[in-house]
Amino acid sequence: MSRSRFAAIILAAGEGTRLNSARPKVLHEIAGQPMIRHVIDALRPLDPAATIVVIGRDLDSVTHAVAPAPSVVQSPPRGTGDAVRVARPALTDRLAQGDIADILVLFGDTPLLRAETIAELLATRRRAPQAAVAIAGMRPADPSPYGRLVLGDDGAPLRIVEAKDADAEERAIGLCNGGIMALDSRHAFDLMDRIGNNNAKREFYLTDIVAIARALGLLCRVAELPAEELLGVNTRAELAEAEALMQDRLRRRAMEAGATLIAPETVFLAADTRLGRDVVIEPNVVFGPGVTVADNVVIRSFSHLEGAEIAPGATVGPFARLRPGAVLEADVHVGNFVEIKATRLGAGVKASHLSYLGDSDIGAGTNIGAGTITCNYDGFNKFRTIIGERAFIGSNTALVAPVTVGDDAYVATGSVVTSDVPADALAIARARQVDKPGRARELRERLKGNKG
Ligand code: UD1
Ligand code: CA
Repeated sequence: MSRSRFAAIILAAGEGTRLNSARPKVLHEIAGQPMIRHVIDALRPLDPAATIVVIGRDLDSVTHAVAPAPSVVQSPPRGTGDAVRVARPALTDRLAQGDIADILVLFGDTPLLRAETIAELLATRRRAPQAAVAIAGMRPADPSPYGRLVLGDDGAPLRIVEAKDADAEERAIGLCNGGIMALDSRHAFDLMDRIGNNNAKREFYLTDIVAIARALGLLCRVAELPAEELLGVNTRAELAEAEALMQDRLRRRAMEAGATLIAPETVFLAADTRLGRDVVIEPNVVFGPGVTVADNVVIRSFSHLEGAEIAPGATVGPFARLRPGAVLEADVHVGNFVEIKATRLGAGVKASHLSYLGDSDIGAGTNIGAGTITCNYDGFNKFRTIIGERAFIGSNTALVAPVTVGDDAYVATGSVVTSDVPADALAIARARQVDKPGRARELRERLKGNKG
């Protein structure tokens, strides 16, 4: 069998101390999804033969976030070299099949890495004559936290020295270790076994394998890759920096796909936001995860959307909130201060002002008046409101679920609807108005008299 595939090991067992967080580092989110998901997503187009994630003890939340990729536990975290070793048993069977050329080591804390860049690292290792180790070089604006690459006269790496262990001369080197590596699968674990922990942190450094491979006469190579993509997130400041870079990338992608972002720097997208052609996004709009917007939709300023599906021609906002399960069919209009949750609005529905529509299904052509509220929760359970097509719900109506309003029904303004309204019926569910002639003056006189 030809050796044409690779297996990926993603390291995510570090304690992430510098984030000062109760949450595992790799679960901190960039563009609405855990950092480590971005790494797994970058691998997908390259079709790895296997992907193993190395996690810390008691991190079921990470196991869950990376599934279906299997995870193995490294406990305690004794360094990046040790972490790679821990993944070995999970790959033994796969390696025995003989088609795996490379072990690719990635970090769970580099969320900006793109598939093309990973492919370049793999290609660098495989270029004839094949190298045992290909490392990612980068030239970040601030090299201070990174390991430095010490190169020989021939341009090949001699060793990597960690920032903490570097002397003044080594600290002056601008070429840094991006962290990720491609290794010849025939040598990878043998090299790992030779790593010691004689360094400032008493850890088994993956980075030592460059010097180890050289000493064994094996070839090492550097692929110089974009520093931006290799940004390692260790602190909250770096988390914000990665978010900004990712937002920039997502905004650019949305605009290339034909969406107008009037002030792109004020629009926040999730990694999975899908925007159609000729969509217009006004300034200051936030997309949480799971939003799909079809062609010719306008999202007006200060709207917040999450888990929503919007069909062509709809307009949303300003100041609208779409929560998970909001489905807006063609030409729907959702206006200011309207909140929609787990509700389908059929084609052409209008909910223009000040409403809460939750756990509902609203038929095509229905008009929802200002101030309509679906009372879907009694403090214990949630109930559904079903409204038919072409209905008219008058302003300030409370729909006490479970309740159904039929097609073409008309609900009078100010109604509290507690029982089903048949199709075509007019429902008036409010106290009848009583006028008492002259009583306003009498009342005023009395109140004046009472005033101390
Ligand atoms: C590492 C590199 C450094 C490089 C930088 C690039 C080493 C020794 N150093 O430093 O040369 O410039 O990345 O971003 O590799 N992890 C484990 N188990 C452990 C320790 C770490 O799984 O025992 C994981 C972490 O969760 C993280 C990754 O490995 O995802 C990198 O570890 P981290 O401590 O962030 O290494 P850096 O100090 O950033
Ligand atoms: Ca790091």
